[in-house]
Order: sequence, then structure tokens, then C-alpha cells
Amino acid sequence: MSKKYTFFLLLILFCFSSIIAQEQLLVNAYNRTSTSLNGNWKYIIDPYENGYYNYRYEPFDQQESPWASAFFLNSKPKNPSDLIEYDFDQMNDLKVPGDWNTQKPELLYYEGTLWYKKSFDYTLTQKENNIFLYFEASNYKTEVYLNGKKLGTHIGGFTPFNFNVTDILKEKDNLLVVKVDNKRLKEAIPTLNTDWWNYGGLTRDVKLIETGSTFIQDYSIQLNPENNQQIKGYIQLKGKNMAQRAISISIPKLNIKKEFKTDDNGYIDFEIPVKKIQYWSDKNPHLYQVILETEEEKLEDQIGFRTIRTKGTQILLNNEPVYLRGISIHEESPFRKGRGYSKTDAQQLLLWAKELGCNYVRLAHYPHNEHMVRLADKMGMLVWEENPVYWTIEWNNPSTYQNAENQLFELITRDKNRASVIIWSMANETPNIPARNKFLNKLAQFTKSQDNTRLISAALEQKNYKDNPFIRTIDDPFANQVDILSFNEYIGWYDGLPEKCKKITWQIEQDKPVIISEFGAGAKKGHYGTKNTRWTEEFQEDLYIETLKMIDGIDKIQGISPWVLVDFRSPRRVLPIIQDGWNRKGVISDDGQKKKAFFILQDYFQKKARTE
Ligand code: GCU
Repeated sequence: MSKKYTFFLLLILFCFSSIIAQEQLLVNAYNRTSTSLNGNWKYIIDPYENGYYNYRYEPFDQQESPWASAFFLNSKPKNPSDLIEYDFDQMNDLKVPGDWNTQKPELLYYEGTLWYKKSFDYTLTQKENNIFLYFEASNYKTEVYLNGKKLGTHIGGFTPFNFNVTDILKEKDNLLVVKVDNKRLKEAIPTLNTDWWNYGGLTRDVKLIETGSTFIQDYSIQLNPENNQQIKGYIQLKGKNMAQRAISISIPKLNIKKEFKTDDNGYIDFEIPVKKIQYWSDKNPHLYQVILETEEEKLEDQIGFRTIRTKGTQILLNNEPVYLRGISIHEESPFRKGRGYSKTDAQQLLLWAKELGCNYVRLAHYPHNEHMVRLADKMGMLVWEENPVYWTIEWNNPSTYQNAENQLFELITRDKNRASVIIWSMANETPNIPARNKFLNKLAQFTKSQDNTRLISAALEQKNYKDNPFIRTIDDPFANQVDILSFNEYIGWYDGLPEKCKKITWQIEQDKPVIISEFGAGAKKGHYGTKNTRWTEEFQEDLYIETLKMIDGIDKIQGISPWVLVDFRSPRRVLPIIQDGWNRKGVISDDGQKKKAFFILQDYFQKKARTE
């Protein structure tokens, strides 16, 4: 076997070992009985990873008897002569959840390892139950230790992961130590360069979830995409006695109560006929209470039943054409100016979108917290969710592909029962080269294999049609793989001035629905001037006026999600006074003030909605 092949084989095995160190994700953690571990955690900043590697750069946690200086041991001196060079308990606190960058001035730009430590007591309510340690997200590489034992490693900054800690948990003084490293890496997903802030840390909730000894681990309950008079799905039990177990599904408002018995693998699948059902839609976001019950546990969810498909150039929601009046959103808190994570953050962002007249949001460029999609379900907001395959990643690296696939799998597992989620986006602004096409085709096929009830897209790039700069087209082989053709364009900002929009026509040859996933311009709130003066609100306003006119001339357009709802932090944006570390393309400023462009877009959407 060639050395190169052996290397790649070992690399893939390593990657798998670091990924399968977690348990399969618990579905619907959102509604499960849990105990929060949020609050103050002790922390140590460790840029040289001194608490992880010995002086020969060997990881302490791969050694038989790790040295006392391994931080995950939380060693304490037993004798006055003992040498211990750290002490979590004398350190300061960081709040969890929350990025570290916006909690301490010295951490604003920090990229590296930071250790968290939390002690807690926990008593199982039933001694034969399972207990899981559940992280809603942690950016970027997270290594988790409980009571001196390594639970595993998670890679990816925006998706949940959990560990079954039943056999390790104690009733008193549990020691939880978490190493989080947000260093950007060429081989990572996303890669080294992005246009957003690299918020590091335990950025979302951390909790303990107690389940029965046999428990509901996974399920999908959706309207059959092929038959809207039928609810179709499956349930997977896990645990000691998962075989031949009774389980019931109830949907009281549909007078449904069905009893099943699992197979030898704890699995059932089902098709349940439904006569009179209120389909979920943006205009009528009707959610049904769904109750799953076994002898040991009862789990509730709120599920909307709808179909989403395309037909020619139309997007059909419950077989009716729908136009996506949208806006792109970054996951930043409108209040704390850091990574968003709370229900209040989600409410404010989605209420601004609603006020804009949106029935659709593009959650860019990575999976947002679960509050966003749960609220979108309730509010009737259609959602595009995106995997952070952004710009120029290592297309030829097998572990990079596995990482992308794993992050997408975790997102689909978390949100596959959310009616609001209609689009899985594979990528953003990636180059049309053979290695990328192979990578994305494989990712698209994987996605369809996991979930054939939603649409696939990706934010592609436009280009000159037959070298004519005034005719634009989408010439990208991946356009043949997607259900919805989506592209970003910045005519009038990166490409000429807003007046250039008048001179552009579009030649889109694919017989598919087309949405424009980004257009926009920067403006500093309160900076006024002529519409030719860049960074003024008038310039941004004019860009929207001219772009919307241009869009009205493209007959296949079935939706737009302009860039972007709110100004957001980016280390790339350094123009003094105007940017100061912020991307200013928001139609709302980072302190919540609406710019002139907000009202142009709002007026456009109001007119659109009246034609529906
Ligand atoms: C790109 C990219 C965004 C970026 C935006 C900009 O299209 O997708 O992530 O922030 O342009 O330049 O502001």
C-alpha cells in the first residue's frame, strides 16, 4: 500500500474516531427534561495549549498516566512541595452560553484554546435512567472531559453534540472540563477566511438530559411528500430493552392515536392516513402537538405538516406557488453584539424580518441556534439553512469532506421535523472547479439520502454571458444538482455603481426556480449625502431601488434574500469611522436603527404580498 494512501487512510480513521466519539444525537433535545449547566464557568486562556501537550508536544490525554499539569485533571497540590502551575478555582468566570470574544476585552480577537471548568452535583430521578451531556454548539474544536475521563471530541462550531455519561456521572462534585479551540484552519469547515467574526467558546446552552433506560433517540414525523393525505415517518428507540417495545404516537387534534411495537433493533416506521388536516404554511403556521409515548417516557413535539417541491420555475408550498420575500441574517445578538443564542435574540431578529414584510429568511452562513427554527415554525417564516462550506475550502481533503458531511448530518438530525425549514444549502460562493463539483455533488447526494422532503440549493456566483459584461448568467455545473438555483450578485457595489443595474439583462437558461441569495451595499447609519457618495444611506437606498427594478425584469425569480438584515462584526472590515470592524451592509444598524434601504425593501415586499 502506497505511503500516500496509508496516510489518507489513517487520516480518515483519525477523523472518524474523533467524530464517532460522541453518541448519536438525541432528537428534540429542545423539549426533553433537562438540567441546565448554564451560568458561570471558570476559565483559563491557554494559547500554547500548555494544559494539553507536554514539552514534546504529546497530548496528555493520550498518555497512560497524564502529568498533573494536564488541565482536565484539575490537579490540586497534596503537599506543600507539589508543583501545580494552574488552578481553575482561583480564575475568573465566563458566562455560558456566550462567545468569549464579547465577554472580556482581552478576548475580542482571541483565537486559540480556552479551557472551561464547571463542578456540579446530579442525582438521577430513576437509578436505571440514562443521562446525557448535551452541547447545543461550541466553536470550533471541543474536547470534553468528565471526572478525569475524556468523553470525546467534536469538530464544527454550529451544531449540537452529546455524550452518554451514565456510567461516569457521580451524585456529588462532578468535574466537567472542556477545551475549546477556535483557531481557524485551512482544512476546516469553514476554512481560514470568512467575512464574519470567529466567535469562540461554548456559544450555546449546555445541559444534562435524563432519559429512560430505554429511550426515544431519533424520529422523523412529516407529511409524505408523495401523498399529502398521509403522515409518514419512523421512530428509533435505544437502550437495553429497545426490541419489541410498545410505542404510541398521538396527534390529539387529528384524533390520531396509533400503537406500534418496535422491531428487534428498536425501530418502527409508519404511514398514517390523515383526512382533514391544516397544512402548515407561511400564512397559516399551524403546528400540531405530537406525543410519543413508551412505558418509560413521554416526549412531545410541535410539528407542522406541509409539502415543499418545485415544478418548472415555481416553488410549490402545499402545491401552491410561493414567492420568498426574504432577508439574509447572521447569528448575532441585537443586544449583546456577540454570537446570538437566546430566544430573545431570535425573537428580535425574526420580528425585524416580519416587520420588513418577509415570509422567508436565509440563515447565513452556518446553522443558527434552534430557537430560530422553532420560532420560524410558530411565526410562519420559511427558512434556508446553510452548511459553512464557504468560499475556498480544501476540496481534495477527505477529512474536510467528512467534516462537512458530519456538520450537515447534525443539522439535519436537529431540524428535520421543522416545517419552516424548506431549503438545505450546501455552500456559499464556491469556485466552479472539478474538485469542488465532486465535493458538492457528493454532499448533495448525502443530503437527499438523509432527507428527501426538502429542497437543496447553494449560493452560486453569476458571470458574463458569452463574455458580454452586460448580460449575466449562471454557468455552473452544480446548478444541475440543486432544486433551487440561487446566486449572489453585487452589481452596483463590487461591480460598478447602482446605475449599472439599468444596463444589465439576465440570461438564465435552467428550467428551475431562481432566487437571488445576496445583493446589497454598505452604509453607516446616520451618514447622509448624495446617492453617489459611497457609505451613505442614500447610496445604499439607491442600490436597493435600482436592484429591485432590475430583479423585476428577471422572469424566473421566485425569491430574494438581500444581504443583510443587521450590520455584523467582521475582522475584514477596517475602514475607520465607517466600518471599525463591522460589515455595514445591514438594512438595520448594529444598534438597531433602520436605514433608508429598510423602507425601500419593506415597500417592495408589501407590494409583492398584495399580488399574492
Ligand atoms: C459575499 C458573502 C458574504 C459577505 C458579503 C459582503 O457575498 O457571501 O458572506 O459578507 O459578500 O461582501 O459583504
